[in-house]
Amino acid sequence: MLSILRTATGHDFSLYKKGTIGRRIARRMLQSSFTDTDAYAAYLAAHPDEMQALFKDLLINVTRFFRDAEAFDALRDEILPQLLANKPDDYVFRVWVAGCSTGEEAYSIAILLREVMEQTQQSFRIQIYGTDLDQEAIAVARNGFYPPNIAADLTPERLQRFFLRENAVYRVRKEIREMLVFAVQNVVKDPPFTKLDLISCRNVMIYLEAELQDRLIANLHYALKANGVLFLSPAESIADQPALFQPLSHKWKFYRAIGSGAKNRALLVSGLAWAKAPADNRREATAVSRAASTIAQLARRALLSAFAPPSVVTDSAGNILFVYGETGKYLRPAPGAGTLNVVDMAHDGLQPELRAALLEAAGQGPQGSIREVMLHSNGELQKVAISVRPLSSPDGTRQSLLVSFQDLARKVALAATPASGDDSRLVNEAGEGSADRRILELERDLAQTWESLQATIERQQISNEELMSTNEELQSANEELQSTVEELETSKEELQSVNEELVTVNAELQANIDQLGSTQDDLRNLLDNVSGGLLFLDEQLLIRRFTSAAADLYPLVATDVGRPLADIRANLVDDQQLLADAQAVLAGGQACQREVQTRKCLWYQARLKPYRRLDDRLDGLVITFTDISARVAAESQSRAAQHFAQSIIDSVRVPLLVLDANLTVVSASRSFYQRFQVGREASIGQRLYDLGDGQWNIPALRELLASILSRDQVVEELAVDCELPAHGHGKMLLNARRIPGEAALILLAMEEVPRA
Ligand SMILES: C[S@@+](CC[C@H](N)C(=O)[O-])C[C@H]1O[C@@H](n2cnc3c(N)ncnc32)[C@H](O)[C@@H]1O
Repeated sequence: MLSILRTATGHDFSLYKKGTIGRRIARRMLQSSFTDTDAYAAYLAAHPDEMQALFKDLLINVTRFFRDAEAFDALRDEILPQLLANKPDDYVFRVWVAGCSTGEEAYSIAILLREVMEQTQQSFRIQIYGTDLDQEAIAVARNGFYPPNIAADLTPERLQRFFLRENAVYRVRKEIREMLVFAVQNVVKDPPFTKLDLISCRNVMIYLEAELQDRLIANLHYALKANGVLFLSPAESIADQPALFQPLSHKWKFYRAIGSGAKNRALLVSGLAWAKAPADNRREATAVSRAASTIAQLARRALLSAFAPPSVVTDSAGNILFVYGETGKYLRPAPGAGTLNVVDMAHDGLQPELRAALLEAAGQGPQGSIREVMLHSNGELQKVAISVRPLSSPDGTRQSLLVSFQDLARKVALAATPASGDDSRLVNEAGEGSADRRILELERDLAQTWESLQATIERQQISNEELMSTNEELQSANEELQSTVEELETSKEELQSVNEELVTVNAELQANIDQLGSTQDDLRNLLDNVSGGLLFLDEQLLIRRFTSAAADLYPLVATDVGRPLADIRANLVDDQQLLADAQAVLAGGQACQREVQTRKCLWYQARLKPYRRLDDRLDGLVITFTDISARVAAESQSRAAQHFAQSIIDSVRVPLLVLDANLTVVSASRSFYQRFQVGREASIGQRLYDLGDGQWNIPALRELLASILSRDQVVEELAVDCELPAHGHGKMLLNARRIPGEAALILLAMEEVPRA
């Protein structure tokens, strides 16, 4: 995954702490619901968005204004005044905040510088460079907008003096922003800034493995001016590079750069460094070797090798810078990680006194410190004098120490197994007596005590280092936790706003539900009060809803909702026809109706209409059943009565006509058809005056019939002349009367007058 990331982002995380990287990857896998690492790696390679998300997650950018407030107090009260002291008015004070994340730390330093300058009434030009690998974080830093919760990290005075409230956020005021330049930069890969007075690189090293930390420290030293200050976080230190920095505050991790960047570079080139040797250094080396070839130097060298004790020059922390003479008897490569520290390299037995002498010499004048010690060497006990003298560099900026080893006269041979404790086997070379033996005994005890002390000190050192790395680990875990907490807080805020929206939506929903409830009540009451039955079916003829009246035709219960109508056996004589009609309505979208009979001989009118949504989409159908049993019965009775009347009319021998109010023939007796030789079709529905050849178009008859209708009169034996089929001209006696009832029917009987 790291190589995928390196290819995509150009950044190499392989020297970042494995634990942190592992945890961050695990966290992203969890967020993207992956359990299998290979699957996640493949996903990562194929999804640039996920790649960016992981990259951002690995750059844990937790930060705050004045993080570790006491450290910033120390910076303001002790470090900055020192750094600004005795500077000319046109001095440009240069600061680099490496790994500045979203800029809070860089702005904090700018604020402090402004405050200190106001206090000391100085006014230098300030250049602060804030850099980070995270492009988005740098964009935030450049804009200088911060959320209201920064108020927790800033005093009200600072908030008021250096920030502007813009709506819901704070913005760093222009006068501070102008002091800073932000840029994307990789602190371990890209060229560093140079000639800096102050570097703040806090909470970046805690994520790096020791190897990368060392490179970074050398890089930062190179960037600083001589005596420039490095500001780390309390969890970080430059423990492995004491040659480059001198601690100013162990608690708040301020370090002063020893020598200038250029000198450091020369030192780095001597083998400790990752940087390449610059050409001018090589030139310097050539010049030095030329100088060494002068006669004076040759003489000095000869004298030194003949008469000077074996010595080394170290820095103030004991790191060897130069070796004179044969020091093999006193120093040897220390076991474990490579080191040039003179104490670590000293033979067992020399170390405690040497360490003490180094410490002592720092506080002494030019004479330094001299200590004597008994050394086991080649089966002998040799008294050795260790002298440590301070040496000042010509410019007085750097202090070195000259450590010399000198054998003293007394030399005591030890028997093969001195540890056995048999002191009688110790032979005094000078043949001295028991006092010397006693001294030897005591010295041997002392040596053993030193050894055990030494072992204890080493164990202590190891445990200190372990503690330090555990501390760093804890600190980085803490930051991860903090970033998770911040994310959770952001999520919480989002959730809260979503929640508020939900409350509003809920209120609206509740109002809609109330409205729906009352609409449903209305609907239920309406349906219950509709006299006919209603059946709502969906587009698959599944029952959607029904009224209780519909249960007369289909034996429905509440649980039948959702069942196909075809599964319910209807109380109808023929329910298949109704189903076929329903399908036709769904297919054609046209309404239809049908009269259906129940098995109990009740009649219903079934109206099938399409069910349409508001958007006119067909979504099923509604069947309305109206009880028409009474109408059907009345029709049947009416038909029977008609039949009965027609039978009477047919059985009368005299021709009879039943006319309506328009004098249209409604019914005629069989004798009428026979006597006047007309068919039923030519008579029924014809007006009386149009019948046959119009022989009934007699004005007197018209007048008479009109009076019957209007006055309810009876006409009896009205004699009229008319043309009779087959008989020619004849006389008829007409009897007419109105049949009581709403229909206004007239009964007209025609009796033929026999010829004389
Ligand atoms: C935990 S933050 C520290 C922020 C700030 N220095 C502080 O102490 O409040 C670590 C920052 O280091 C940055 N970082 C990590 N590796 C880096 C690199 N190689 N070069 C530059 N910045 C880096 C990250 O992007 C992150 O913003």
